[in-house]
Amino acid sequence: MPTGWSPTSWRAFPAVQQPEWPDEGDLDRALKQIASYPPLVFAGEARSLQSALAQVSAGNAFLLQAGDCAESFDDFSANNIREKLRVILQMAVVLTYSLGVPTVKVGRIAGQFAKPRSSSTEKVGDLELPSFRGHIVNDPTPTPAARIPDPDRLVQAYHQSASTLNLVRAFTKGGFADLSRVHAWTQEFVGTSPEGQRYEQLATEIDRALRFMRACGVDTENTSSLHEVDVYTSHEALLLGYEEALTRQDSLTGGWYDCSAHMLWIGERTRQLDGAHIEFLRGVGNPIGCKIGASTSVDFVLELCQVLNPARVPGRLTLISRMGADKVESALRPLLRAVTDAGHPVVWACDPMHANTFTSSSGLKTRHFDDIIREISGFVNAHRAEGTWPGGIHVELTGDNVTECLGGADDLTVEDLDHRYQTVCDPRLNARQGLDLAFGVAELIRSSGFA
Ligand code: PEP
Ligand code: CO
Repeated sequence: MPTGWSPTSWRAFPAVQQPEWPDEGDLDRALKQIASYPPLVFAGEARSLQSALAQVSAGNAFLLQAGDCAESFDDFSANNIREKLRVILQMAVVLTYSLGVPTVKVGRIAGQFAKPRSSSTEKVGDLELPSFRGHIVNDPTPTPAARIPDPDRLVQAYHQSASTLNLVRAFTKGGFADLSRVHAWTQEFVGTSPEGQRYEQLATEIDRALRFMRACGVDTENTSSLHEVDVYTSHEALLLGYEEALTRQDSLTGGWYDCSAHMLWIGERTRQLDGAHIEFLRGVGNPIGCKIGASTSVDFVLELCQVLNPARVPGRLTLISRMGADKVESALRPLLRAVTDAGHPVVWACDPMHANTFTSSSGLKTRHFDDIIREISGFVNAHRAEGTWPGGIHVELTGDNVTECLGGADDLTVEDLDHRYQTVCDPRLNARQGLDLAFGVAELIRSSGFA
């Protein structure tokens, strides 16, 4: 355990982005209840993810971190979870096949509820309301009553996370993720599209490769890695009371793990070096991510690495740049150089979504597929120039046929946005755009001479 750290030590530091719970007693009761519940994940699983991420930091694997901006209490069903998994599995197959390295799959799922906000209030018509902070805190309905933070929602988020994770485990270990079913992961609305057909071709090649392996005498039937996959969970560790309630001491190692998810990350708005979020996460044994925006300085990043990973454990720290398509190349390069020179073994991941968001003429928040690709391109260029490995991507997507991001193979326009704009927070890629992106990323990395 790091010096001076305990699961509650964050309480002595300023914690930004915390809701104003109306009643401390109610909050305490909810947190005590969660603290009495079983952990959602085990320390050993978090360590497995850390080992997989160590391979990413060494340039031998690729990270695909993907899922909702914010999970919803209303849109909670087996269908929704399965469709999200399908697109993640498809993207992972495209990346693995094209890059020739394993893809480490981490969902923004089973706990990704809480949202940081740029402003604590928002205007709806003439009404000034407390901002919506995710279903784990309040309800997006634009009335003052709906926006009051409700601690019972913390408990509901725990239960929804538990059943989501249960289904993720069943799907990934129970046959759905079997590589012989690569064709079956294609959804109808994807299958007919150009990127869907491209995927079908690749799936056929995988079938052929499996037949070839069997013909050569490889026992594919009894090779578990061909029949099941690991999909890990992650979310932004924003509500520190909730995270503390799920932080447990590992009986094997004695270390403390935040058992609300395998991986936790610190957002762009909560990464103060003297703040509560960094204080809390520096002490848990899970692999940790931290978002870094375009204005991030070399000094800050070096200090961050030192605080979150003083022992320089590979896989412990993932730096997720979200700098904007125009800025990423020049803003990232000095950071790549400094961190490499300092000998810190980080995973570098690209979030090409959060600094490319704008409000369209229809008033809906959106992102353009071309900007998303451009940010990844700048990210890959920066790595090529500095001789470092572009380790992964961090994206917001859903398996549904939503119309939230512009462009892509369908060339969605501003007029299309309100057809199926269903997100409770930021605009997500739909399944076709996600698949398209995986092909695009693989091409960018390969054409840069990496694979
Ligand atoms: C997010 O990942 O949904 C998010 C709010 O990102 P950031 O902290 O990078 O703005
Ligand atoms: Co988001």
